[in-house]
Amino acid sequence: MTTRMTPTATNIESRNGAEPFCQTERNEPATSTPLEMSELQSGLLHPRPSPYVGNYIVFRIDDRRDGRRFVERLGRFVASAAEWSADAKAWLTITITYQGLRALGVPQDSLDSFPPEFREGMAARADVLGDTGASAPENWEQPLGSSDVHIALAAIAPDASRLNVLLDEIESSRRDLAAVTEIWRQECYALPNDREAFGFKDGISHPAIEGSGIAGSNPKEDPLKAGEFILGYRNELGDITPMPQPDVLGRNGTYVVFRKLHQNVAAFRQYLRAHAKDVADEELLAAKFVGRWRSGAPLSLSPDRDDPELGADATRNNDFLYKDDDPRGLKCPIGSHIRRMNPRDAVVTGVVRLHRMIRRGTNYGPHLPEGVLDDDGADRGLCFVFVGASLTRQFEFVQTQWVNDGRFISAPAEKDPLVGGSGGQCPFTVPARPIRRRLQGLPTFVTTRGGEYCFAPSLSALRWIAELTT
Ligand code: HEM
Repeated sequence: MTTRMTPTATNIESRNGAEPFCQTERNEPATSTPLEMSELQSGLLHPRPSPYVGNYIVFRIDDRRDGRRFVERLGRFVASAAEWSADAKAWLTITITYQGLRALGVPQDSLDSFPPEFREGMAARADVLGDTGASAPENWEQPLGSSDVHIALAAIAPDASRLNVLLDEIESSRRDLAAVTEIWRQECYALPNDREAFGFKDGISHPAIEGSGIAGSNPKEDPLKAGEFILGYRNELGDITPMPQPDVLGRNGTYVVFRKLHQNVAAFRQYLRAHAKDVADEELLAAKFVGRWRSGAPLSLSPDRDDPELGADATRNNDFLYKDDDPRGLKCPIGSHIRRMNPRDAVVTGVVRLHRMIRRGTNYGPHLPEGVLDDDGADRGLCFVFVGASLTRQFEFVQTQWVNDGRFISAPAEKDPLVGGSGGQCPFTVPARPIRRRLQGLPTFVTTRGGEYCFAPSLSALRWIAELTT
């Protein structure tokens, strides 16, 4: 039985007490190893060009030999990050859950070398993550959160015809394998304008990763150590991020968090309508929630009005910090979504660079037509995808301390206004002169419909799994 702990700044960042959340190996040589791009699955590090369409597909493995054959065949369709191209026909990413590794016959001592939270799985971490009430696992879409979720694929392509070619390849890899069953599928997409269901441009901010050659979107942020995202490399603590064993399984792998997040767009629009003075004020309030205007233009650079040209300009739309330019949040509220999720250089409790993440989220479901305020009952939202080397220090920390708690910004009663489950209880403060604006009773706009913790093995590790003889 694992002791359930909530990842806090104190238990993560104090090195002496760090073991449960910072499983690091000390005394490694000071030189950093070059990142082996030819070993990494291509869908992980590179931001994807939009528009695109895709499917998430989940399989159950009832016989390890069939499962391994499936992994071996799928592996042929996975390009390495070294071969990544924006013009690729499609991107396939293979991820495997703890239960999936077991079903594939990965030896027990190796399974035991994975961190406890990965072994427990996302549903078992519901109380830590704040997945309660409507977001609780008993209300999740089946079979998400169950022990049947073994292999989860992300199949993404620039258009439907190229996606169908990849989906056919996946299906023909499985067809004669009676013990591999597809148990869940979710269509997803990114629009040409990158808007998510609430109407904001998404996929703007992403970190640079040392040794990858992939530029970050904020010229003011130094590249992060590769060990923050890929196992087996030096991380921001100066340590080698530990790997599950044997090395061939762990090295160049990473963790992937998948969460299907339903967005109640009608409730979002109704709240804005009810609390804003006029249409322009609705847009300002929406921007204050997110920290960006719908076009993607950041409040930090354009505090008073939207600037679609700035929003569309990838060289400028993430080029800002907070500490000197906006210490009190008069432009971008300290409690807004993007400032909570990445406080950059702002003064907060904790060390921001230890809690960064790669996001690979996609939309699902039809957009609610502009201007509609009533819920049409359609299922729509975000398939949130996190990529990083530590589930606890990165994803769980951000979800518990920065989404669902406000103490790190000295606002204990507040949660993330966009994605925190406020349930009508929490306020949201918009700093302003001469007096701040305080909104009360924020509804829950986002509900968890299911999810899982997965491991994305390297290309060598996929072959190792396929060739197991246990
Ligand atoms: C339905 C749920 C969500 C929606 C609609 C949403 C929407 C957005 C939008 C519009 C942006 C600004 C565009 C960008 O910088 O790419 C953003 C940024 C971001 N979001 Fe979310 N988000 C959601 C959930 C989450 C969750 C659950 C997390 C983490 C646990 C998260 C972490 C981030 C991060 C790290 C950024 C970048 C912040 C920065 O570097 O400035 N988001 N999100």
